[in-house]
Order: sequence, then C-alpha cells, then structure tokens
Amino acid sequence: MRTPVWTLSTLTLCSAEIMLSTYHGTMVDAKNNQKDQGMTRTNLRFYEELAAHYHLIFDDWNAAIERQAQVLGPLIHSHANGNCLRVLDCSCGIGTQSLGFAKLGYSVLGSDMSPAAIKRAKKEASNRDLSISFRVSDMTSLAEIAETGFDVVATLDNALPHLDANELMLAIRAMASRIKPGGLLLASIRDYDALKAERPTIQEPAFYGRGGDNRIVHQVWDWTGLDRYVVHLYITIHAGREWTVHHFVSEYRCVLRDELSNVLRSSGFSTPKWFMPAESGFYQPVMLATKDH
Ligand SMILES: C[S@@+](CC[C@H](N)C(=O)[O-])C[C@H]1O[C@@H](n2cnc3c(N)ncnc32)[C@H](O)[C@@H]1O
Repeated sequence: MRTPVWTLSTLTLCSAEIMLSTYHGTMVDAKNNQKDQGMTRTNLRFYEELAAHYHLIFDDWNAAIERQAQVLGPLIHSHANGNCLRVLDCSCGIGTQSLGFAKLGYSVLGSDMSPAAIKRAKKEASNRDLSISFRVSDMTSLAEIAETGFDVVATLDNALPHLDANELMLAIRAMASRIKPGGLLLASIRDYDALKAERPTIQEPAFYGRGGDNRIVHQVWDWTGLDRYVVHLYITIHAGREWTVHHFVSEYRCVLRDELSNVLRSSGFSTPKWFMPAESGFYQPVMLATKDH
C-alpha cells in the first residue's frame, strides 16, 4: 500500500463550504523500508510547520510548562548528585520543558533539529525574561553542542520514537558523551508496550479554548507496519464565523521500553528506571538512567 503523506494542508470551512487552500503531496512506500530515508525529512517538515501552532495542542501551554516542571524537577532531584543543575534539553521544540527547567533555576541549553522551533523557543524565553541558550542540532550527533559535563540530558515528549533503531543508538551515544559521570539521562516516550498491541487509529478530539481561541485538536494514526504509523494531526480553529483546519503529518516507530533500556545499558548507563504515569504524575512513561562512572 502506498500512503499519501501530506504536509501542512489548510482547509477553510465557511458555512457548509470546504475550500482546500494548501496541499503538498509526497508518497511514502509503506511496504518497503524506503520511508526510513525520508523519515527525518518528513518529521523536520512537520515541526517546521507546526512551530507557530505548537502551543495550541495544549489546553493551556503555560500551565503545562509549570505542571511538567513541578513533576520533573523533584524526579530529577531525587536521582541527581548536587543541586546546581546544568541541563541539555536536546529535543526542546518550542521550549515546553526548557522554559520550566529555567524557571526552576537550572542552567539550560535547549537544542532541536527544527530551526523554526528554536526560533520560537528563543522568543518564548525572551518574553519570560529567562536566560536560556538555544541551538539547532540533530540529536543523532549533537555536533553543534561542544559543551560536555551536563548533569542532565533530557529528551521529552516522544522525540526518540522519531528515530530508527540505528539513529536511536547514535542519539543515545551522543547524549552519553555530553553527560558527566554519574549524571542523568531523562526521557519520556508514549506507552508503546501497550499501543503496539492496541493499534489505535484515533486520538479522540479535545475541545480547547475560551473566548476567541476555540479549537478542536485530534489525531488519526495510519498504521503502515507492525510498529510504525503515520500521524495526521488536525488543529481546527474557530475564528469569527470561520473554521480553519490545519493538517500536519509525521511518522513514529513504536519504541518499546526494553529496546530503549537495552540501548542505554550498551551505551554506558546503569539499568534505567521507568516511572509510569500513575507513579510519576507525568502524562507519559518517564525513564531515568545514570551514566556509569
Ligand atoms: C513532540 S516534540 C516535543 C518537543 C518538546 N520536548 C515539548 O515537549 O514541547 C518532539 C521534538 O523532537 C524534535 N526532534 C525529532 N527528531 C529530532 C532529532 N533527530 N534531533 C533533534 N530533535 C529532534 C522535534 O523537532 C520536536 O521538536
């Protein structure tokens, strides 16, 4: 089967009329493994296009920044040596965790492969008077991050499942080389141990917004293999009398907790600890691993 992968398409709905105003089509071959070559390109385009809208996928992005920091801060502190924390947030996006970490008083360097996300993260930090360094860098090499000796390297909200198995290994090794001995790698991914079996095709619509920024956010998951799916993310915004649909497309691979734990063990980390949402209060399984001395 060949699955169309659309980049951003904007649908404007006026009354009962639907007008397709933007559409780009590329094709991904789901049966052959050719899509791996294009996976990074597709995902980069996804985040470049999404950067301006990213906050809209949260009910209240500012509240999410605070909430995540309140959960992750104590988790880090319960495993970190020392209190003056230097953190590299290597898939920081527009800054959901970097901003919260800086507010906790950590010294933060945020990096991401998406220039548009980094540009917005810089603006968000400046709007909040937070001093954070940001850099564009692909986490499979972190070539642009010359600094080492971080207390914590973080990669949060399901960034790792954008990588194929080889890229995952490269990324964990790149992170390991930036962490001080005894320092932490902090990651969160979706619960693919469950999702791989369930194979859901939809993430139910969420109805967000009050007074002028009403919107519906939902996802459709098109499974293109046993452990891979194309995500169609829709953000439908109500402005005035019009509804505008923004459609973004990305790809994920189901990374199981054992796979990630094994990669960490083979890259110089102690056996990772996993914290499920009921225990941590975070919305995804969170993993903490200590780099060997
Ligand atoms: C779901 S977003 C999460 C962003 C941020 N941590 C947050 O929670 O808002 C995943 C991020 O991973 C980044 N990413 C994906 N692959 C990457 C790679 N190879 N190197 C660096 N960043 C990458 C994307 O650009 C995106 O910003």
